[in-house]
Amino acid sequence: MAPNKNIVLAFDAYGTLLSTESIAEKLASHFGQEKAQTIAATWRKYQLEYTWRLNSMNQYEPFSTVTVRSLQHALSESSVSLPASSISSLMHAYDSLSTFPDVAPALESLSQNPNLTPVVFSNGTHAMVSASVNHSPSLSPYAAVFTDIVVVEEVKTFKPAPVVYEYLAKRVGKEGEMRDVWLISGNPFDVVGANAVGMRTAWVDRAGRGWEDALVEGGMGRPTVVVRGLEEVVEAVEGFMGKG
Ligand code: LAC
Repeated sequence: MAPNKNIVLAFDAYGTLLSTESIAEKLASHFGQEKAQTIAATWRKYQLEYTWRLNSMNQYEPFSTVTVRSLQHALSESSVSLPASSISSLMHAYDSLSTFPDVAPALESLSQNPNLTPVVFSNGTHAMVSASVNHSPSLSPYAAVFTDIVVVEEVKTFKPAPVVYEYLAKRVGKEGEMRDVWLISGNPFDVVGANAVGMRTAWVDRAGRGWEDALVEGGMGRPTVVVRGLEEVVEAVEGFMGKG
């Protein structure tokens, strides 16, 4: 790595820092363990699908709205329903999702590293993401590690549209210097989207299944580095930069 060359690490929120599966515990109190797992997975699937559909239609709804509507879809698909008060308490829980266990050691080590600038970069609304960063019991102790929270609200478009990653680059002062920005994400579609604008990418493969996404062939369709947990990110990024 060139001396003092500042590299930005943009951490995706849901599915990377925050585990959306932890919401299944809340759902389990209504529907039991097994159905809750199914609803949580379907909810997440429709949440992302809705964002991509909105992008295709050149329309935008805040991620909070997308999240409520995709929950309703998931409940309906499992032939269950919830009163408005329970839906609003689930949405409240969404603002304090648990982090994955590898998040704390990663942020601890980043807080000691002057060459890497961590930011959060999410489809979520500013209200949702800043609530999680500042109030989630497992994430809030590290809130100060992030120099910025970048969300898509201003561009009113969701990942993986190029304009969203370009907006990130601009926000972190790296316009036209895409290679200095690393997207760190557990979501393959996000990794491929960042690659498409020339960013570098670290894919978090917690399940250890290996890269399966086949949308884009060749190097652009794959992450720059693969890590098994966020605690490996600093070494992986520095190792790669050292080689370059
Ligand atoms: C986010 C979505 C991808 O946080 O989970 O941007």
